Amino acid sequence: MPERLPADTYAAGGIDISSAAFWQQPMRERDRSFAALRAMPSVTFHPPIEIGSSTGGPGFWAATTHDDIQFVSRHPDPFCSGRGVGFSDIPQEYNEPFGSFLMTDAPRHTHLRGLISRAFTPKRVRQVEEQIQRQAHAIVTDAVDHGSCELVTGLSSRLPLWTISEMLGVPEERRVELRDAANLMVGAQDPELLATMDDPFTQVLTAGITMSVLGSEIAAERRIDPRDDLLTDLVQAEIDGQVLTDEEIGAFVVLLGVAGNDTTRNSISHGVMAFAHHPDQWELLRRDPEQHLPGAVDEIVRWASPVLTFRRTATADTHIGDQPIAEGDHVVMFYGSGNRDERTFDDPWTFDITRSSNDHVGFGGGGPHFCLGANLARAQLRSVFRELSTLVSSFEVGEPRLLRSAFVHGIEAIDCTFVPAG
Ligand code: HEM
Repeated sequence: MPERLPADTYAAGGIDISSAAFWQQPMRERDRSFAALRAMPSVTFHPPIEIGSSTGGPGFWAATTHDDIQFVSRHPDPFCSGRGVGFSDIPQEYNEPFGSFLMTDAPRHTHLRGLISRAFTPKRVRQVEEQIQRQAHAIVTDAVDHGSCELVTGLSSRLPLWTISEMLGVPEERRVELRDAANLMVGAQDPELLATMDDPFTQVLTAGITMSVLGSEIAAERRIDPRDDLLTDLVQAEIDGQVLTDEEIGAFVVLLGVAGNDTTRNSISHGVMAFAHHPDQWELLRRDPEQHLPGAVDEIVRWASPVLTFRRTATADTHIGDQPIAEGDHVVMFYGSGNRDERTFDDPWTFDITRSSNDHVGFGGGGPHFCLGANLARAQLRSVFRELSTLVSSFEVGEPRLLRSAFVHGIEAIDCTFVPAG
């Protein structure tokens, strides 16, 4: 049985995935270290990460291969979510208010997820796709008409915010509040976005409270005046005969507000950037969008890996492969690394919208926490790139300003010029 090597073993050998400097590099540079870890016989142990609100602690096991990510994701017992899903622990009492069911385990996870899962089924998404397409048409036409724009504000951020706000029932005048709080929450590891806050934890806390209060205020309105939206479903829902508290409803808004905004927004920005750098793939998509859109959307998610990491905690002594894992140990899954695993993907660093098999882990590795919004995200990406394919013959992009984060593969800003079709 392999023993746990000292946490700094790999850093000493030049593979330092815990340092702040490591996460300042672009993904391609970082993947040199991940490729070395993927080639190791088993998961490896690393010191605590140096960015964000790290609380120190003993460090974490890194699951970097496609197989190990799937294994951990699909075994919620013993790899639980209820003790936190970020690198560092936040006080236990904040887990559920700020993570909702993302940070719970069965049976509570099953109950809470079940309250909203109906809104995300393929059938329900097909029903709303026409509205999404109409909205995408308006947003893309507006952006392309300007000729050039800062892509994140001018295009990428608009459809995700509209979609999740419509579904939840957030009125137009409060949508910017939701977006800004969600951005602050995922930006807590980036020093530039921390400018006005004391520390990352305070920033996450403040942003979470803003979204939670927003949710409970709208919920109060829905109790009096029900509508056809998720917040109405939530005020009417019961678990074991009990209606949800304001705090529980607020937690849904925090989770959906964050999960539904940044992920799809960053996928759109990374997607445009990928097509700008691979004009042959853009040509291919434009030639027959309906044939290539499904493959293109999944390749964008694999390529972008908008969510970089989630953590689990072992609830008992266990194993990953031959490697013993002790009760209480943290295991971090590196989705971006799994999506470049050369044992799963041919030429993983080639952006190829025609991949015949694309079993990426961009939406997670399977199991009970698999992304609830995957169908919705795909519908949004299809709509945006369908519209772009009819209006734009090529893109010219500048250097992106990347978010410094070990959690979200974010693009904060990137200049883009659209060369119109025809
Ligand atoms: C391209 C866009 C997206 C990506 C890459 C993405 C990725 C992920 C990942 C990696 C997870 C964790 C999976 C796991 O732990 O096994 C997750 C969970 C989740 N996602 Fe997404 N997501 C996207 C879009 C969305 C959207 C649009 C929504 C909703 C509006 C959404 C809602 C959720 C929820 C609610 C969870 C928690 C599921 C649970 O704990 O049961 N996501 N997502």
